[in-house]
Amino acid sequence: MTVLSPRPDLWTLDPDVLHLNHGSYGGVPRRTQDLMAALRAEAEANPMLWFRSVAARLTTSRLELASYLQTDPAGFALVPNASAGVTVALATLPIPAGSRIVLTNHTYGAVRYAAERFARANQAEVVLVDVPLEADDETVVAVITAALDDAAVLVVDQISSATAMVFPIGDLVAVCRERGVAIVVDGAHAPALIDAPAADGADFWTGNFHKWPAAPRATAGLVVAEQWRTAALPLIVSWSEKDERLPERFDMQGTYDYVPWIAAPESLRLLDELNWPVRRSQLSDLVDEGARVLAKALATGVAEVAHPAATMRLVELPASVDLTAGEALKARVSKELKAEITLTGFDNRGFIRLSAHAYNALQDYEQLAERLPAVLA
Ligand SMILES: Cc1ncc(COP(=O)(O)O)c(C=O)c1O
Repeated sequence: MTVLSPRPDLWTLDPDVLHLNHGSYGGVPRRTQDLMAALRAEAEANPMLWFRSVAARLTTSRLELASYLQTDPAGFALVPNASAGVTVALATLPIPAGSRIVLTNHTYGAVRYAAERFARANQAEVVLVDVPLEADDETVVAVITAALDDAAVLVVDQISSATAMVFPIGDLVAVCRERGVAIVVDGAHAPALIDAPAADGADFWTGNFHKWPAAPRATAGLVVAEQWRTAALPLIVSWSEKDERLPERFDMQGTYDYVPWIAAPESLRLLDELNWPVRRSQLSDLVDEGARVLAKALATGVAEVAHPAATMRLVELPASVDLTAGEALKARVSKELKAEITLTGFDNRGFIRLSAHAYNALQDYEQLAERLPAVLA
């Protein structure tokens, strides 16, 4: 098989910096940036004309994004981010007093806040299920299933943030269906890492295009099961409020910057041209090797995640590193080493979560491995 070469030339990332954290805020390729600039120029040439054209352009973009996810366009709405998607889901689903919203100890912090807000408002309770990092799919399903008594809703990651672990969503959807528990799938990291990620049978699925598909920021999708399509409302009340069609109701969010939503399909086309499925599998090998190199330099190990996300790995931090000072450490690494990494904590363990995208090469990880031990010492 041909080895695809890294393509930093397609991005505008500072070449003097090691960019090893695509997973947090993504990175928009030059081509999509150019399209956004052209769209903005058009908008500023005649704002009235631009806003008259937005609805039709959004329809085109939405249909392309739904087709990329291989999901029914009638149940696919645009939202600014996965946080908004989860918020809409929890605002729509019935949460009876005394019931439970079940999360796991891998749930993204802001999603947990959303669950706590809706639990408070409905006199319900949030329950966190402990899922071991090393758990295989069967164990994950067993421990979550055991917590579903009296549950109104399960909110579960498709790929977790702190632990970069893939959850067995198909099985969890089946268990929830069987027990009459609503399931919200947080697929923030799923588009481009999981094929056809939109979790058939889930009540709600949300995922970010601004992470792995490298779309402009503030571009995410919400997939809504048929039974909730009338009830689901966008977070901003605007002129489309009375539109009975779900996707259109979410399109017009007042005077807003619609350029990212309109430009997003350009990034999907670029990934396609980059031979993404093959490239993703090569990036998986790359981040494996990069993680091994870094772990060796730090004299630690690579976390044994049973089902890791394709393009992210966790390298254990030395025990001497105090994660409560993590923000300061990341800022030091950024300033002194010219490297962008993220640190995560799980179950009293600290990790560097490494990413790989099409612009990365093995030397990025090797350089980090050369430089990082001195800062952590
Ligand atoms: C699992 C998970 N859920 C939700 C989010 C929130 O995404 P956003 O900031 O786009 O709303 C993230 C962001 O990293 C995440 O990793």
